[in-house]
Formats: sequence, C-alpha cells, structure tokens
Amino acid sequence: MDPRLQRRVQRYGWDKAAAYYEQYWSRQLEPAQTLMLRLARLQPGERVLDVACGTGLVTFRAAEAVGPGGAVVGTDISDSMVTRLRESARERGAPNVTAKRMDAEDLRLPDARFDVALCALGLMYFPDPQKSVREMLRVLKPGGRLAVAVWGARSKCGWAEIFPIVDRRVESEVCPLFFQLGTGEALRLTLEAAGCTDVMSERISTTLRYESADDAVGAAFAGGPVALAYSRFGDQVRDAAHAEYLASIETFGKPDGRYDIPGEFIAAVARKSG
Ligand SMILES: C[S@@+](CC[C@H](N)C(=O)[O-])C[C@H]1O[C@@H](n2cnc3c(N)ncnc32)[C@H](O)[C@@H]1O
Repeated sequence: MDPRLQRRVQRYGWDKAAAYYEQYWSRQLEPAQTLMLRLARLQPGERVLDVACGTGLVTFRAAEAVGPGGAVVGTDISDSMVTRLRESARERGAPNVTAKRMDAEDLRLPDARFDVALCALGLMYFPDPQKSVREMLRVLKPGGRLAVAVWGARSKCGWAEIFPIVDRRVESEVCPLFFQLGTGEALRLTLEAAGCTDVMSERISTTLRYESADDAVGAAFAGGPVALAYSRFGDQVRDAAHAEYLASIETFGKPDGRYDIPGEFIAAVARKSG
C-alpha cells in the first residue's frame, strides 16, 4: 500500500475514533499496556517519549511512574488524539505531560533526548515499523530503553474478521500486515534489524470483554482502526457489516449477552547500545 495513503487513513481514521476510543478499548488494552510498562521499568526523574500515544492511556501512567521530576512527551499522527491528551493533561494538572502531532517515522525531536521510548499498540499501523524504531533509537540517549506492545497472532485474536468484513464493502486500506508483527519472532526481528540490542519479549493471552453486542460492534467499527472506512457506510451497509461481524464472534457470546473475545498481545523491551 502507498505509505502516504496509509498515513492519511490512520490520521483521519483515528480522528474519527478518538471520541469512542477509551469507552471501548481502555479496559481491553490494559493488560498489554501493563506488560509493556513492566518491561520498561520506568524510574523517577526519567524523560519518556510515548509514540502513537492516542488519548494518553499509557502517557499518564508513565507520567505517574517518572513523577514530577520526570517528563513525558506524547506524539501521535491524529490531531484529535493529541488534542484530547492535552486537555486531559490540563484537567488532571499534569504539567510534566506534553503532546505533539507527528508521524512516528519522522519524529521532529532532537537526538539523544529521552531515557525511554514507548509505543503501545501503534507499531502495526506504521507503513515502515522498522523506520519508526530507528527514529525512536535516534532520540534515545545511549543505553536508553525502548518498549513496545503489539497485537499477537491473527489466529489468537477473535475479532480479526473485522478487516475482511470491512474490506469486502469498501477499500479500507487498513494495514494489510496488521498481525504480521505479532506472528512468530517478527517483533524481535524488526527491533533487531532496526539496531536494537538486548531484545526481550513476552506474549500474553487476554480476554476482550464486552457487555453487549452493541459494545462489541462499537469497539470494532466506530472506536478502532476501521473507523474511517466505516464512516463512509450507509445504514444498510452498516447493518449488514454489523451482522456479519457478530456472526464471526458468535462463538464468544455468553448467555447473558456479553462477549468474551480472545486476544493476544506481545510486548518487548530493548536497548540502544552505548
Ligand atoms: C490503538 S491506538 C493506541 C494508542 C495508545 N498508545 C494506547 O495504548 O492506548 C493507535 C494509535 O496509533 C496512532 N498512529 C497510527 N499511525 C501513526 C503514525 N504513522 N504515526 C504516529 N501515530 C500513528 C493512531 O493515531 C492511534 O492514536
């Protein structure tokens, strides 16, 4: 896919998803973010970069870990995400959190500035993940740590049918290689090929719990990576796509109406040599 198109789909898609994101995803992504933060071992006073920060679910946890003597800069390609994060920082009174809109493959930040670079559930969306890892390494101090988390293998993620369901109705252009980094040793190999050392990774299985069919549908369509394509659907197409998605997750439905959808994440930590 054309990288410029992929970036545009991401930027404007997440602009649309931003308002729904926390409602549908904060609980479901928490295990992956916790694993990544555990591997990152943030210390008071550290300066942290959070790439593809979204609404700040990881950013604020990082800010708490580094304390008032540290600082966290969140960056994201979506204006709406960055604006939300800035507003939350103001509301929470977190002066050590700042946010800037920028592409993960082109960080407009000085070399050797950060102790730690984080990227939770972002790497799969970048046209060239290796390039973004090189950018993170560039802005890290020598010996600095990089910690990332991505979705695991496609076969372990019960919601994976969302992509072909949307693609059959509109050219969605959403990351044809979405699950690639979660397969086998792909994440480790990407980090090593980009120049990271001491790579260590951990895989976890989780359950994405949704209290109702409406919630499961909202998370998959309006609150996630296909939001831009979905916004172009008319009512009839929406209804048909919802029905097809619900059929694809039917086996995860419970008698009380909720859904327990299996998911898998992989997180890794690495170092910049020096
Ligand atoms: C699933 S959200 C993850 C947000 C946050 N890290 C979290 O854990 O909740 C993915 C984020 O990646 C961002 N993104 C996608 N492509 C990007 C790119 N090329 N550069 C920077 N951010 C990007 C999206 O705008 C979106 O906010």
